[in-house]
Amino acid sequence: MKILAYAASNSSQSINRKLIGHAVDVLKTEIMPDAEVEILDINDYEMPIYSIDREMADGIPAKAQQFFDKIGAADGLLVSYAEHNGYYTAAYKNIFDWLSRIDQKFYQGKPKVVLSASPGPGAGANVARAAVESAPFFAADIKAQLNVGHFGTNFDEAANSLTDDALAAGLREVLGTLT
Ligand SMILES: Cc1cc2nc3c(=O)[nH]c(=O)nc-3n(C[C@H](O)[C@H](O)[C@H](O)COP(=O)(O)O)c2cc1C
Repeated sequence: MKILAYAASNSSQSINRKLIGHAVDVLKTEIMPDAEVEILDINDYEMPIYSIDREMADGIPAKAQQFFDKIGAADGLLVSYAEHNGYYTAAYKNIFDWLSRIDQKFYQGKPKVVLSASPGPGAGANVARAAVESAPFFAADIKAQLNVGHFGTNFDEAANSLTDDALAAGLREVLGTLT
């Protein structure tokens, strides 16, 4: 079983990347020990801002095709969304737009678990909702969702784990849906 995991943030200090790191640890130690997990950094897929003119002139960047192929090779997706002004970060939206020009159904029917994290109480719920509600258009098979607010208090960086029991149990539950 191949799992592709990434945070939809280009921040070097990304809390969503920290959440992905912990989730992958839990997945590998408790849920799917045999899983082959790749954690991808969206910074490696930075491309010119999508424009129809660029597409007509230069075609689709190779990095977009590589990202698309990574999704295609995976059996499941684990994505943690950072919320910027209620929606995807510009960095991820740009990748999203390029991928959708390869095939609008770029999640290719893959089972997907949606996470989100924010420092405040909102927990990235708006962007997570956008990802879940739009999933049918992009052929993501949403299995479960977990939003983590107040990340600074609900996550212990030194221990690399969630401090809140309900959130920790919730994480195990959502990860279990990928099996
Ligand atoms: C431009 C910008 C817009 C933001 N908008 C929101 C928002 O709408 N809702 C929210 O909960 N947090 C918002 N935040 C705070 C982010 O949740 C916070 O920066 C978080 O650390 C982003 O996740 P990341 O660390 O994984 O990049 C915003 C931050 C920035 C820089």
